[in-house]
Amino acid sequence: MSFTKRSVENLKEQVDIVEVIGRVVQLKRAGASHKGLCPFHSEKTPSFSVSGQKQYFTCFGCGASGDVIEFVRRYYNLEFNDAVEKLGKEYGIELEESHSRGPDLEPYYRANKAAAEFFYKCFTEKANKGYSYMKKRGIDPKLLKRFGIGYADEEWDSLHKHLTGLGFDPEMLVELGLSAKRGDRYYDKFRNRVIFPIINTSGKVIGFGGRRIDPNDNPKYLNSPESRVFSKKNMLYGLNLSRKAVAEAGFIILVEGYMDTIGIYRAGIENVAASLGTALTENQARLIKRYTNDVILLYDSDAAGRNAALRGMEILKKEGLRVRVLHVTDGKDPDEFVLEKGRDEFLKLLDKALPYGEYRIEAIRSRHDISNEEGRIECLKEIASELRSYSPVEQDVYIRRVSQDMGVSETALRREIGLDGSAPGSRRPERAEDPEKEPDPLSPVEKDLIRLAILHPEMTDKVSEAFDSLSSDSGTAIISAISDECSAGDGFDLRRVMDGLDEPLRTMLRDIASEDIPIADPDALLADCLSRKRVEALKKKEQMLISMLDGASEEDQGRMMEQIQNIRREIRLGKDGKRQNEKH
Ligand code: GTP
Ligand code: MN
Repeated sequence: MSFTKRSVENLKEQVDIVEVIGRVVQLKRAGASHKGLCPFHSEKTPSFSVSGQKQYFTCFGCGASGDVIEFVRRYYNLEFNDAVEKLGKEYGIELEESHSRGPDLEPYYRANKAAAEFFYKCFTEKANKGYSYMKKRGIDPKLLKRFGIGYADEEWDSLHKHLTGLGFDPEMLVELGLSAKRGDRYYDKFRNRVIFPIINTSGKVIGFGGRRIDPNDNPKYLNSPESRVFSKKNMLYGLNLSRKAVAEAGFIILVEGYMDTIGIYRAGIENVAASLGTALTENQARLIKRYTNDVILLYDSDAAGRNAALRGMEILKKEGLRVRVLHVTDGKDPDEFVLEKGRDEFLKLLDKALPYGEYRIEAIRSRHDISNEEGRIECLKEIASELRSYSPVEQDVYIRRVSQDMGVSETALRREIGLDGSAPGSRRPERAEDPEKEPDPLSPVEKDLIRLAILHPEMTDKVSEAFDSLSSDSGTAIISAISDECSAGDGFDLRRVMDGLDEPLRTMLRDIASEDIPIADPDALLADCLSRKRVEALKKKEQMLISMLDGASEEDQGRMMEQIQNIRREIRLGKDGKRQNEKH
């Protein structure tokens, strides 16, 4: 439910912020305003101030501030509209509902709720495969209830019959992704699956995830399609239950999956939510920001999890959140880890989360073989270029650490970054994610690769392997979005990929898609791209070595020259190889 702007303004006129806050915070008059202990962070001396004149509160300690609705929203952990409604009720102020938001969504929510109840009943009332499966995974009844976990049986249309029996429109059920239609028969979309209702922070059931029980069923997780009431990129699974704990703990743990959320919650750590296996979005970041500014990303330790963490970090940071990253090692999911090791071990693990800079540097290091000289040089170059965008204080800290760890002098590292004092102040710190910054353009090879992936989604895995640390950020981001879409398992939909991208990446992708160049032989194109890519990489390496010649000792110079010669030979060979390919 939402209210007209006019009636919200009216409410604010009539309600006094000093009185509303005064009911829960002890306020003392201080000059023109009132002071008290901030309810949003713990403190011993009051830095929380409420102005009756301005109808505004501010905390000088934690920065919380806003009007009366904002206070109620934060204090009681409510959505905006729920906060308005609460105040309206308490003060007997009438509110006009706003109907400008298109069709009435209530029937959709009611249908979803009825479906959730049906699934829950099937799960709890008699023995069934879903219950045995979840029991095996160590989930106790209390949690099952709290998360409303259910079971979709093996019949063809038991849910459909049940819901139409309750009077719900079959077409609406199709729109919600609960039913599907073949010919003029309807059948259930979720069959023989454990059901996780997805509930938003207003307590409405907006969609479902269904996990297979039979390992031969595909996909592993079937999610509700995007609909009028469900938008995956605007919600976080579990936040409806965890937001209070998030506000209390002062941070949120973000995981990838349903089971991770539930597993961690089960260990008594309730400040957790999941992005359901997709890349984080700005809207999700904003959603988090309502409850906390601190995030720990806890993703799988495989390549997909690491890439998702790197991208997620940028998004969260851009929205002003502090973020740390952690991977569970030994190939386990967070869910398996807590189940096996328990709460205390898990809390110890959380302490190991790395902050932004450290994680980025660690990620660069893990991409290089630093046991040999060439690898170390390349690695240091990349670290230097990463550090170039950091603030002076951060640079100072990391320069010290990296030079110790990698056995180079601080001076050399400083020079590499461009901090050698030759042109003081000439390099303004500029963050990598600076929104003003032009995105790096796609190279011709990258364009071909992306074209290949969107025309042949089945080749996406192979295509994305061609993207590496030397690829452009734009290309890497686009290919990750494509690969997310492929692994979501709902069929490849280019529009969805574009929807998930921000400008200017979206335009870049659209341009490639609209070029309409047919691909005669996708395998040959891939092979060709890979060899062009190799040449590109070799050239970059050559440039790198040349630029380092200057500062190197005579002995090193000799070795570097030799390497440069080798690289040049390889480039020639690579090109010859390509020419030969083209003849056929
Ligand atoms: P379990 O294998 O049951 O422990 O699941 P998990 O939560 O560990 O899943 P996994 O790490 O494989 O994936 C993380 C999340 O990605 C899942 O919770 C789902 O939200 C999503 N996901 C995984 N597989 C699929 C799939 O086949 N299709 C879709 N649409 N989403 C999936
Ligand atoms: Mn798992």
